[in-house]
Amino acid sequence: MDLKGKTIVLCVTGGIAAYKAADLVSRLKKQQAEVIVLMTKSACEFITPLTLEVLSGNRVIADMFDRDFPWEVAHVSLAKRADVFVIAPCTANVIGKAAHGIADDMVTTTLLATRAPVVMAPAMNTNMYDNPVVQENLRILAGRGVRFVEPESGRLACGDTGRGKMADPAAICEAVLRAAARRDLEGLRVLVTAGPTREALDPVRFLSNHSTGKMGYAVAEAAARRGAAVTLVSGPVSLAPPEGVEVVRVVSAREMYDAVLAALPEQDFLVKAAAVGDYRPAETADDKLKKTDGGMEVRLVRNPDILKAAGERRRPGQVICGFSMETRDLLENSSAKLESKHCDLMVANNLKTEGAGFGTDTNVVTILRRGAEPEALPILPKAELADCILDRLLAVRAAQ
Ligand code: C5P
Repeated sequence: MDLKGKTIVLCVTGGIAAYKAADLVSRLKKQQAEVIVLMTKSACEFITPLTLEVLSGNRVIADMFDRDFPWEVAHVSLAKRADVFVIAPCTANVIGKAAHGIADDMVTTTLLATRAPVVMAPAMNTNMYDNPVVQENLRILAGRGVRFVEPESGRLACGDTGRGKMADPAAICEAVLRAAARRDLEGLRVLVTAGPTREALDPVRFLSNHSTGKMGYAVAEAAARRGAAVTLVSGPVSLAPPEGVEVVRVVSAREMYDAVLAALPEQDFLVKAAAVGDYRPAETADDKLKKTDGGMEVRLVRNPDILKAAGERRRPGQVICGFSMETRDLLENSSAKLESKHCDLMVANNLKTEGAGFGTDTNVVTILRRGAEPEALPILPKAELADCILDRLLAVRAAQ
């Protein structure tokens, strides 16, 4: 999901972290947002408006009484245009003014006039941040619904070490994405599986596959952003857990089976993006298997099919989406799975298609839905595809 069609009003206030606003503007632009930058007078001492003007592609507004401005009442029109109102870095001064309704410059006046969600990224010296008056102001603002991207600890520009460093622009950008997201999954529970499973041969070796978990993690992240309560049952991957998601870590298919079936009853949606091992060694040796001069045969036995078991146990109203990865006869094989596993949707992708498959940031899929024509989607970033899948789940739910 990106910020296409959204207007982000970014206010930069006067702290040394103002230089990081350049990175933030460029990240927001990459998400296709329209970015309008407002600056306080002191912010202009730290970074030149020209830099942010070039990066945002819009005129930077720093002067409340600028006569050469295209809108009639600038602070009101900008406040209305904002889909998300961001203040980064946000100084103790602006936090104080915002908490008490003081509007004495373009930033604070526009803030008072906006109804958009407000995201603040405080940045200041540790002693200032820890000062009870600042903490009290932060509490007042949090109580009014302001979303904070908490400062980090580290070496501060003043030489002190402690809390107060502005959060990473990537984290601020993520908070903006969340604030801008539709909240159409609010009140719904979504269970997502992701990653590979590992089937142990002995304490050292295992059978597994190339899944990296990117698709499932993208679905979990998008669902949380849209307001769902998300449980992510994850095989071993090296991805960071998405914010606000309950992660249940498993290793083998049987552990994933237990975790999914335990969580299933209260779920509204099940999205099974995991690449589950179909087979496991019939026996797992307690000690490392020693090599001999000859070959070795390993007998494999079937793992339970988790998706199928979930399909058989589903309660009315639950919507189930499986994934199907094939290297040939994609649609035939995937429609057969849609039926046999009792799914509502099957997201089918061919491993051999360029831009699809394991480890990529994109995917090329066809979505199969019972009683409907297959829907072939263009190549999409996995994050965007995650939203498409969630849209289809909502459509199935609405049609039930
Ligand atoms: O039959 P196949 O493994 O190709 O089906 C893939 C779908 O079934 C995926 O959604 C996968 O998570 C799920 N699956 C499962 N349990 C298995 C094997 C696959 O849930 N043992």
